[in-house]
Amino acid sequence: MYSVVVKKYGGPDILEYVRSDSQNIDDKCVKIKVSACGVNFADVLTIKGRYQERPRPPFSPGLEISGKIIGIGKNVTEHKVGDLVMSIMKYGGYKSEVVVPSENTYKVPSNMPLEIAAGFPVIYGTAYSALVTSAKIKKGETCLILGATGGVGIATVEIAKALGSKVIACGGSDSKLKSCTSKGADYVINYKEKILRNELNKLNIKEIDVVIDMIGGQYALDSVKSLKWNGRFVVVGFASGNIPNIPANRLLLKNASAIGLYWGELAYREPNSIKKDFLKLEDLYNRNLLKPNNHKTFKLENASEALQYLLERKNIGKLVLKVN
Ligand SMILES: NC(=O)c1ccc[n+]([C@@H]2O[C@H](COP(=O)([O-])OP(=O)(O)OC[C@H]3O[C@@H](n4cnc5c(N)ncnc54)[C@H](OP(=O)(O)O)[C@@H]3O)[C@@H](O)[C@H]2O)c1
Repeated sequence: MYSVVVKKYGGPDILEYVRSDSQNIDDKCVKIKVSACGVNFADVLTIKGRYQERPRPPFSPGLEISGKIIGIGKNVTEHKVGDLVMSIMKYGGYKSEVVVPSENTYKVPSNMPLEIAAGFPVIYGTAYSALVTSAKIKKGETCLILGATGGVGIATVEIAKALGSKVIACGGSDSKLKSCTSKGADYVINYKEKILRNELNKLNIKEIDVVIDMIGGQYALDSVKSLKWNGRFVVVGFASGNIPNIPANRLLLKNASAIGLYWGELAYREPNSIKKDFLKLEDLYNRNLLKPNNHKTFKLENASEALQYLLERKNIGKLVLKVN
């Protein structure tokens, strides 16, 4: 088997593609022949040693994979050899073969190609938790998405629309925002070129029920000012590199809440609730309400190139690594 390995923390160029040994299967684990791996913004931070999860080198990055089960531990009952699955992990997905806990492994929805399934769990799982579990969004509510042009952002646009919300997608490039419109966003705002609150005024949108924030910084502070009575602000990420100090007085005045979401950890602590979320997502997918697509596919050995592409913000949505 082959692995992409970090031997010392650094940028995408430090990744090495090496031959490695197959792992033994623990009793509660499954062994998967990997078909493809999802690429996430968190991988860039992990290989720099700047993510919440800080494995010591040498390690492989990678939060999600899809593939076929080729072995099962003796206590595994919910999966069998030959099943097509997708799986999540804290790191270690950039490999041609993985051994992962059975409880963090999910059946690939029927009709979903494995290459799509590789990039599905993290972005759709996070978006669903943010909207449904954290924000408890209701049909007809207004949802503003910061970072709508990224992987999590586009999944959030799709799910929010599928749940009957009015969606305002915000991002930093007009061409990327076109993808949000094609996924159903009712309005788009380029916050790099325009002032968010002025644009909301022009659209005659006075207040927002739910903000899902992947970006942080000034954009987050501006959107907190636009929250409605009982509004919810969900903290998902800080892609701007700036962690906002959310003003407590604004929350108090609107009886509003700010809620943090650490989906990767949640998925480990509460695997059964995540499993239920995936069944709901599968139902939306089967009803053609979600149409996940990858922006670009790289070979596993070219993982550095994929992460560099992500860092240069060339992606609109999901990148995946295909295993030969
Ligand atoms: N809390 C959780 O459980 C969880 C789970 C998954 C992801 N995340 C976090 O969510 C964030 C987005 O993840 P992703 O997978 O969607 O990433 P992605 O596909 O790389 O998208 C990044 C998004 O951030 C925007 N962006 C990038 N650099 C920026 C900058 N300097 N200033 C403003 N906007 C910037 C990009 O938009 P434009 O290029 O259009 O500006 C794009 O919308 C990351 O911070 C990630 O770590 C958190």
